[in-house]
Amino acid sequence: MRLTTRIEQMESVDPFARLVQKLVSRAVPQQSLQKDLLSGTWIGRPLHPILTDVVIGTWISAFLLDLLSDERTERAADRLLSIGNVSALPTIAAGLSDWSDLWGAQQRVGSAHALGNTAALCLQILSSRARKNGSRKAAKLLTLAAVGIGGGSAYLGGHLSFVNGVGVNRTAFEAWPQEWMPVIADDDLPEGTLIESKVNEVRVLLYKEGEEIYALSDRCTHRGCRLHLGQVKDLSVECSCHGSIFRLSDGAVIRGPATVPAPVYEVRRRDGRIEVRRLLRSQWGTKRTDPNQPSRDQEGP
Ligand code: FES
Repeated sequence: MRLTTRIEQMESVDPFARLVQKLVSRAVPQQSLQKDLLSGTWIGRPLHPILTDVVIGTWISAFLLDLLSDERTERAADRLLSIGNVSALPTIAAGLSDWSDLWGAQQRVGSAHALGNTAALCLQILSSRARKNGSRKAAKLLTLAAVGIGGGSAYLGGHLSFVNGVGVNRTAFEAWPQEWMPVIADDDLPEGTLIESKVNEVRVLLYKEGEEIYALSDRCTHRGCRLHLGQVKDLSVECSCHGSIFRLSDGAVIRGPATVPAPVYEVRRRDGRIEVRRLLRSQWGTKRTDPNQPSRDQEGP
C-alpha cells in the first residue's frame, strides 16, 4: 500500500506519460471505431479485464506445468505460454486505450501497471525462445520471474479498479428516486438547453425539446464527468471529457469509451413542476410515453 501511495505521488513521470498519452490518443482517437472496440462498448462491459484473464490464466497454467516437469507437460506449458504471449497484444492495446483516458495519480499507477506487464511479456517472450532452443532451465526461471512481476502488476491493476474505481460504472451507487419527486419548475426549463438539477442528492440532467422532456443521470457512467457540460446533437448528449455519447430517450451508449448506458428517469408535469422517478433498468432502451401521461402509474413499486 505504501508503494502504491508513492507511485500515486510520482509527478516526475507525468511529462513522459503525457507524451505517450498523446501518441496513444492519435492511434486510438475518441469517437472512433477502434476506441469503441478496445473499450468494450460493443459488449457493454470493459474489454481489458476480460482479456487479462486469458493472459494470466495461460501464464499461470504454464508456470504450474513447468513445476511438474515431464515431457508431456513441457509441451503443454510451451503452448500455453505462446497463447498467453499472443493474447497479451490485444490486452495491452485495450489497456493502453483505457489508460489514455486517465489523469493524475490514477494515470501514474496505470503507467507502473503497464510497465510491469510489458516487462513480464518481454520475459515470457525470452522464455518462449529459450524453450525452442532447448534451454529448459533458463526458460522456467524466466517464466518464474515473469509471473512474479505480472503478479505485482496485477496488484496495481486491482488497486486501479477497486481502490480508485477506474473502469467501474460511476452511477452504480446513486440513490435514484423510486417515487415521483419534483425536480424543477416547468417554467425554469428552457428549450434546447442542458440543465442540471438535483433530486435525492443525485444530479439529474434535463433537456426539453418541444413537448418532450428527457431526464438522465448527470454523471457519465465512464469516468463520472458532468453530462450537462456536454453538447446535444441528434437528441443525444456528448460527454465533454472523453466524447462518450448517450441517447437522451433511453440512455443507450451510441459512442464509447463508456460501456454502460446512462440511468434514465421517467418524467411528468404536475402543478407547474417537472417530476422524475427512476425508470426501472429493465425499461431502459424503451421509449417513454407522453410526459403528461406517465406509463408506470398503475404498477407497484
Ligand atoms: S467521463 Fe469519459 S466519456 Fe464521460
